[in-house]
Amino acid sequence: MNNFIFQNATKVYFGQGCVKEYLGCLTKQAGTVMLAYGGGSIKSNGIYDEVTGILRGAGKNIVEFPGIMANPTYAKVLQGARLAMENGADMILAVGGGSVMDCCKAVSLAARYDGDIWDDFWARQGVIDVNPLPLGVIVTVAGTGSECNGGAVITNEEKKIKTGRDYPALNPKFALMDPTYTYSVPVRQMVSGSFDILSHIMETYFSEPNDDNVSDDIMEALMRSVIRNLRAAIKDPENYTARSNLMWDSTMAENRVIKMGKKCDFECHNMEHQLGAYTDCNHGCGLAVLHPVYYRHIYKAGLPKFVKFAQNVWGIAKDGKTDDETALAGIDALADFIKELGLPTTLKELGVAGKGQLKEIAYSCGISAGSYKRMTHEEILEIFNECYE
Ligand code: NZQ
Ligand code: ZN
Repeated sequence: MNNFIFQNATKVYFGQGCVKEYLGCLTKQAGTVMLAYGGGSIKSNGIYDEVTGILRGAGKNIVEFPGIMANPTYAKVLQGARLAMENGADMILAVGGGSVMDCCKAVSLAARYDGDIWDDFWARQGVIDVNPLPLGVIVTVAGTGSECNGGAVITNEEKKIKTGRDYPALNPKFALMDPTYTYSVPVRQMVSGSFDILSHIMETYFSEPNDDNVSDDIMEALMRSVIRNLRAAIKDPENYTARSNLMWDSTMAENRVIKMGKKCDFECHNMEHQLGAYTDCNHGCGLAVLHPVYYRHIYKAGLPKFVKFAQNVWGIAKDGKTDDETALAGIDALADFIKELGLPTTLKELGVAGKGQLKEIAYSCGISAGSYKRMTHEEILEIFNECYE
């Protein structure tokens, strides 16, 4: 296992009723709370009324920051930072999924930084030393795991770049996670969010080291859990056990625990982010299209791990098969699962308008240093072409 330092600064309150029980106490120090949310789902499912009721009851001054879109933009971040500063917000409360949480992390940083936050933070891996505005989150959909890390992904529409950074000071101070809040998530979003969870685990699992390490063992259990509980939640969207497991799987995939001692790949994420920058596609759907094709490109370089994946995640027996055949059977099982879920399997379905754009998108993708096989932009273009229809 590689050397590592581990810390996670977010305190998690998990379970039915946790918002009612703890929100008042967690916001005690803040006179003015900036309440941030997305396109309105929290108004139709009752979460908005519950949260504002608690805040008003505690005498808070509430400043609303609504309308955070999926794939949040840099323009929206700047708007939020202005609002927070003009109203003297003491803390930000993000109520939503990855897009709301990420946007609020970026707002919390921009509100406390005098320079150009795009140039000095998002555009390059330079070090800035900023103490962000305190942030708390209430998670309403499982997927990104953003609630328990310092990562945020922001789209600069002008520059056509969707990029992510993990800045530990951006870990939310607290995360309230009530699985019943996810009951109203539409099936399509639940499925794509769950595929995002699976992708985070796979992108970590398929990287060195290959020798015995506890992170890989935890990941095999997590992948089986996502597959099993997603099937159960599709059958019964109000299955508390399934929703709880998916919600915690999502956090476990991105709270840094499984990354300890691992190199990590995340090339599919690099590719998907740029597809998103050009097409605004749904994150989990983009990942679903790319994964099987990408893995057929790299499996030979990580053969022992792909064999373990087939056996330990999908239950495929060797039965006289060669390692190559077993590894490919595991990738086929993943592709079949994607079809079973009704996720898209081509870039065309995802909304990429013609092959003409693919070269520009491929050449804008970041190249992962931790993958079993280091991609070139030419090979990314090949993958995009294979995925097109
Ligand atoms: O906007 P509203 O009306 O709230 O509707 C949202 C949105 O349409 C809806 N939704 C959320 N909770 C709901 C609900 N609908 C009904 N009931 C509820 N309880 O779900 C839709 C999608 O929400 P969004 O936040 O966009 O989804 P997700 O959590 O998948 O976040 C995606 C964003 O996170 C980034 C992605 O790139 C994308 O921008 N990522 C962030 C990461 C991180 N910070 O660590 C890592 C990921 O790899 C990812 O890149
Ligand atoms: Zn993701």
